[in-house]
Amino acid sequence: MNERFIKAIEGFSKASKEQKLDYVASLLSNPTQAKADFKGFWHSDSSTQQRLDEFSENTLTNFAFPFGVVPNLLLNNHLYMVPMVIEESSVVAAASKSAKFWSDKGGFHAEIVDAVKIGQVHFIWNGRADILKLHFPELKRLLFENTTHITSNMQQRGGGILDVELVDMRTEEPGYFQLKARFNTCDSMGANFINSCLEEFAQILKDWLQDAPHFEPNEREAHVIMSILSNYTPECLVRTWVQCPISDLGVHEGMDAETFAWKFQKAVRVAEIDVHRATTHNKGIFNGIDAVVLATGNDFRAVEACGHTYAARNGRYQSLTKLDLSNGMFTYTLEVPMALGVVGGLTTLHPMVVYALELLGKPSAEELMCIAACTGLANNFGALRSLTTTGIQKGHMKMHLLNILNHFHATDAEKAAAVEHFKQHKVSFNSVRELLESWRQAPTP
Ligand code: MEV
Repeated sequence: MNERFIKAIEGFSKASKEQKLDYVASLLSNPTQAKADFKGFWHSDSSTQQRLDEFSENTLTNFAFPFGVVPNLLLNNHLYMVPMVIEESSVVAAASKSAKFWSDKGGFHAEIVDAVKIGQVHFIWNGRADILKLHFPELKRLLFENTTHITSNMQQRGGGILDVELVDMRTEEPGYFQLKARFNTCDSMGANFINSCLEEFAQILKDWLQDAPHFEPNEREAHVIMSILSNYTPECLVRTWVQCPISDLGVHEGMDAETFAWKFQKAVRVAEIDVHRATTHNKGIFNGIDAVVLATGNDFRAVEACGHTYAARNGRYQSLTKLDLSNGMFTYTLEVPMALGVVGGLTTLHPMVVYALELLGKPSAEELMCIAACTGLANNFGALRSLTTTGIQKGHMKMHLLNILNHFHATDAEKAAAVEHFKQHKVSFNSVRELLESWRQAPTP
């Protein structure tokens, strides 16, 4: 390993941005060029750049990802222009193609099953559990009453703490209990609200055990291990689906509608049975969901973690989609939990997030859940349609062509000529290289 990567550096976080950049650039092969390139991604408006810098720590520059759109996505009878931030070629194209395919078949449908979020105080307490359970209603009242300074604003917006239960976990770990709370955080993702409530709950619990007359001296201490929201929110759930008579599916690459539906059903079934396929199947769903979640300034790691846990809720990791072919109808449904927000967080701070939300008509958090889920279904439908007909590579490599051309530093003229050429030929890394080499040996394509 190169020595410069193993030298520890003291006080890096206290250095100025310029000093950090100098230091990091000095680790690279061409420090002057690297520094100029890092700076090349700075926003032209210094106050915007400062805001972007302050989203994170030790920020040196911005990292550019494509911001694209899916036009004409028909969802619940509304047409949306859906913003997607994603680095992978063909994802936006696949979602757009699915949006077009379903646009004359009623479009996509979506509904919120529920929008409840969860948080827990995990604590160890070695006392008489029956007495704790007996007097828990008294603690519960205090948990609600003594957190109004945190909850009153949320309550005015129609949300707040919905319920708190005491969960006895002693069969798993000696003395282990939880305060498990359910929250409605309205249009915010709610992480700060929930965590603030939980940390207050922990203190209220400790104070109550100290003071309440029901406990013996050796029962007065709760060891609070942690207070934190759960990113697993199975009750914050959206359902989205497409539906049409099987015969309306039409002919796909020479395959009649019935054969296509049969093959599609088998593909979904494989993703129910086989964990390797289920993972890739669901990854394709998250291609769409994550891209919308990122564009709208939400936490895609939380959404992914939650979705994958939900996919394993029956004790086995399975497809998040289900296909029903009964009564001659093709009904394809995705059910996925996700906690999204349209207020707070980055929603007013990131300039592109502001535009993304405006483009979507300033949706509520629930509407955004529907849009993100439906984009995930659009991507998954597109992937399965390709996989069960032409195979994925035909379309994928066509979309990837520009990346390959850029890899070989193709000029604009070479790119235009190559795009024409590959309308008739199969794209591969080698075929692009060979074509460029042949042109470059005998210039002008
Ligand atoms: C690629 O990003 C996603 C797919 O692999 C999804 C799938 O196989 O269903 C095409």
